[in-house]
Amino acid sequence: MADALKVGIAGLGTVGASLVRILQTRAGELATTCGRAIIITAVSARDRSRDRGVDMSGITWFDTPEQLASEADIDVFVELIGGAEGPAARSVRAALERGLHVVTANKALLAASGVELAKIAEERGVLLNFEAAVAGGIPVIKALRESLTGNTVSRVYGIMNGTCNYILTRMEKEGLSFADCLKEAQRLGYAEADPTFDIEGNDTAHKLAILTTLAFGTQLAPEQIYLEGISNISIEDIHAAADLGYRIKLLGVALRTETGIEQRVHPTMVPRDSVIAQVDGVTNAVAIESDILGELLMVGPGAGGNATASSVLGDIADIAKSRPGAQQVPVLGTPAAALAPYRQAEMQSHEGGYFIRLAVADRTGVFASVATRMAENGISLESIVQRARPGGADGAVKGEAKTIILVTHATMEVSVRKAVDAIKAESYLVGEPQVIRIERPKDL
Ligand code: HSE
Repeated sequence: MADALKVGIAGLGTVGASLVRILQTRAGELATTCGRAIIITAVSARDRSRDRGVDMSGITWFDTPEQLASEADIDVFVELIGGAEGPAARSVRAALERGLHVVTANKALLAASGVELAKIAEERGVLLNFEAAVAGGIPVIKALRESLTGNTVSRVYGIMNGTCNYILTRMEKEGLSFADCLKEAQRLGYAEADPTFDIEGNDTAHKLAILTTLAFGTQLAPEQIYLEGISNISIEDIHAAADLGYRIKLLGVALRTETGIEQRVHPTMVPRDSVIAQVDGVTNAVAIESDILGELLMVGPGAGGNATASSVLGDIADIAKSRPGAQQVPVLGTPAAALAPYRQAEMQSHEGGYFIRLAVADRTGVFASVATRMAENGISLESIVQRARPGGADGAVKGEAKTIILVTHATMEVSVRKAVDAIKAESYLVGEPQVIRIERPKDL
């Protein structure tokens, strides 16, 4: 049997502790499968004394991730710290420069510096693996990077943040408040250290930027992503969506268009009978539409210790099985130096249409005025309904207020914005309009 693969792990939080436990309890099976043992020889973490429920004896501790990356006797540096800058970025760079293989779950770092890190890895002939960075346990990186080679991808989209999906699901099914659902997601180890990254969509945007590069072979462009989170989605929206036959999900969507690439992250209404609408809780789903294969939908656990550790483990096992000196798979699917420039798509028709919820005073002519403002902007309506607003909680307005809900046919984003601005200029609105895009999966 070949020499053991020596692994150093930086960060022993939920994922790191799961990884240590799995590497120790499955040591025998892993050695057989990989043809060599995988042993943890070094770690670094903020708190040495915390009981993580795993055996840390015989493992060398380093004070900082940077020291671990530059000094430890290891073959693979595993980064589970997080953050686009600081110790995570410095240690990953140091490890690659030193010619170590790197495994990371750090989507923020990859979205910000993935091309530059890929160039270093490719120059040094080492692997930079990051399956855990997108959609937790779902092997979507491998699917795009390797399995779909030769396909032309037209659209990739999905539910990529377990925390948001968990919150939206529990709000809908159990009527819990946004704040209570978020607290529970944090307790279960799903949320980011700063959970605004989850609920404001930044985490999904980091993941989408990575998938866009893998799908379309372009430079990373996280700054070009249109971004809206779920913090202003109310129970009222969720119920209105259900009444109209939709569910609300936070989706990341990347499309290839004739003028370039469109990337967006926002709350989205999806038809209730589509597969993606049935994806509940912390589960993630990623759909890839391509010319040879057609439509692929991958569904699985998206966050949490074991889901993420499973992907990290797969990445480490790939390194254990790789042959020294052999040509490595390009980090981002295409060699970093050959990635095409990113071209932002021109604003185009949003095929799925829009849901618009308006809180209005109950006056004669309001309904007609709303319909007129839509018509003036060339917007065709699929439905328009008016109902009494519930009094009391959840931002509802008591007394004379009514809710008008519109669903449009496919239309330009710019037209919807103009129509909503025109409605805002009228005197009858009694709250901020809510606008949610509708996305229609092709067949699934
Ligand atoms: N906070 C992330 C989520 C963790 O909720 O999906 C997995 O990337």
